[in-house]
Amino acid sequence: MRKDCAKIVIALLFSLTATLSLNAKESSSSAIAAGQPVIAAHGMVASQDRLATRIGVDVLRRGGNAVDAAVAVAFALAVTLPEAGNLGGGGFMLIHLAHPARNVAIDYRERAPADTPRNVFLDKDGNAVPHKSRDTGLAVGVPGTVAGLAYALQHYGSGKFTLAELAAPAIALARQGIIVDQDLAASLAHAAPRLARWPSTAKIFLHKNGTPLRQGELLLQKDLAASLEAIAADGPSGFYKGPIAKKIVAAVNAAGGHMTLADMESYKPLERKPIKGTYRGYEIVTMPPPSSGGVALIELLNILEGFPLAKLGASSPETIHLMAEAMKPVYADRARYMGDPDRVKMPIRGLTDKAYAARLRAAISPAKARPATAIMAGNPLPYESPQTTHFSIVDAVGDAVSNTYTLNFSFGVGLVAEGTGILLNNELDDFAAKPGAPNAYGLLGGAANAPAGGKRPLSSMTPAMVFQNGALRLVTGSPGGSRIITIVAQILLDCIDFHMNVAQAEAAIRIHDQWLPDELQVEPGLPAATLQKLTAMGHTIHQFAPWGSAQSIMRNGNHWEGASDPRQHDGLAAGY
Ligand code: DON
Repeated sequence: MRKDCAKIVIALLFSLTATLSLNAKESSSSAIAAGQPVIAAHGMVASQDRLATRIGVDVLRRGGNAVDAAVAVAFALAVTLPEAGNLGGGGFMLIHLAHPARNVAIDYRERAPADTPRNVFLDKDGNAVPHKSRDTGLAVGVPGTVAGLAYALQHYGSGKFTLAELAAPAIALARQGIIVDQDLAASLAHAAPRLARWPSTAKIFLHKNGTPLRQGELLLQKDLAASLEAIAADGPSGFYKGPIAKKIVAAVNAAGGHMTLADMESYKPLERKPIKGTYRGYEIVTMPPPSSGGVALIELLNILEGFPLAKLGASSPETIHLMAEAMKPVYADRARYMGDPDRVKMPIRGLTDKAYAARLRAAISPAKARPATAIMAGNPLPYESPQTTHFSIVDAVGDAVSNTYTLNFSFGVGLVAEGTGILLNNELDDFAAKPGAPNAYGLLGGAANAPAGGKRPLSSMTPAMVFQNGALRLVTGSPGGSRIITIVAQILLDCIDFHMNVAQAEAAIRIHDQWLPDELQVEPGLPAATLQKLTAMGHTIHQFAPWGSAQSIMRNGNHWEGASDPRQHDGLAAGY
């Protein structure tokens, strides 16, 4: 991580524009195109939607802390980024409190309804049926977002804002409507066939002739405004009990699911102990299971720590090769060991142990890729007694929030519970339907992540923070399915090993290898010579774009530097 005064001055101009201009998006985008982060002195928000970012910055300016701002941003994204922001999904919030220093992980992952047998996604012959776990009511987990946000505010908010006050901007946007921006128009165009299957969804997001709303058109979400008002008035019980809960349960069951009011009423967010590790002297704090993200991130960084990446260079074939080879055993371990910590025992200490990483590192050749068949889950120390969106926030006293939440697919299962405006998730596809049957991201799993009533499916979401001698340096995270873990790892490597600022780190070309499928996934843009060398080392290259949407904030001297991923057009990092 570095300081660069000339660039700070230029970026400060961008940051002022970003803060003062009513349409700051252009400023931030061009800043990132130039590899320049947005700069702020006091607090900052980086999110995938500029309206949500501005709402968060406004809360910070009015004396709110990072958690207050996070609640407002999350409600806003449920309106402005309906493909991923949500009330009907779930996620993970990592909180750093500066005084006294403390880190907290809030698990508001969806749970399977109680009536979820292990074979729920199989046919009568025992074959996995992806349609069931992706496109029907059986896919829908009991939503966690509303409970998670209310919990975070109650326990870690500043006390200056009520839930109703923080939901108010979202309510106004839902009721008055938002102009469909470029990213939302693209998401709607892509998802239109899935949305068209449900009349309750089509009437909100599609024209009468079935075509999706286009860029520049008005998206009105009056039912969603009313649902947010019920939550504002009654707190989580306005969502988990009464008319909204009844409508969600009815919608899920009409779509073939088995959810009950008891499933809704009994949903509880859980506070968990964050996963910690170190990388080249920096302290990493991230999400524990039921996300695999934190454990996998630490395991991957531990393996990579033994390689001279800075010397080998960013995006060199040697670096990419070592990263890919390090990723393979991490994903094999994920598939073998990881699941809901309330249901399965996991060798977390073993998986995040430096000595275990050293053994995995020793099996990596600097010159030759191993086929997936050559890699099995490792043998860590024995057991000790889980379209998504991410936002990062820091406030003036140094508190921070790193939050990733999701409906799983873009717009989730695609179903709006009639009369609520609330899109429902298809998160239960993240279970392993059976051993050997990949989920939508090609991830495998076994007994540890088998479906079961009340269980949380394993996730890859990886909200993360980096500290140096206890001082907060970086807040980051990203969507991207199975690639979330490696995207977050690459942001850290780019900042720590390759001394990039956050805007450069977010713009850098990403690679990913998840053991199976046996291929090295690469974003387009690498030189042909690099690809040829990787192929010669034995990697099967699969190029496609784009992936991820990292939202990052880094401390640099006495400033915060922020960047919203340049792969989207309508994200924004802004501060004051
Ligand atoms: O929890 C998980 O790992 C997935 N449901 C996340 C899905 C995701 O990131 C999709 N967006 N790109």
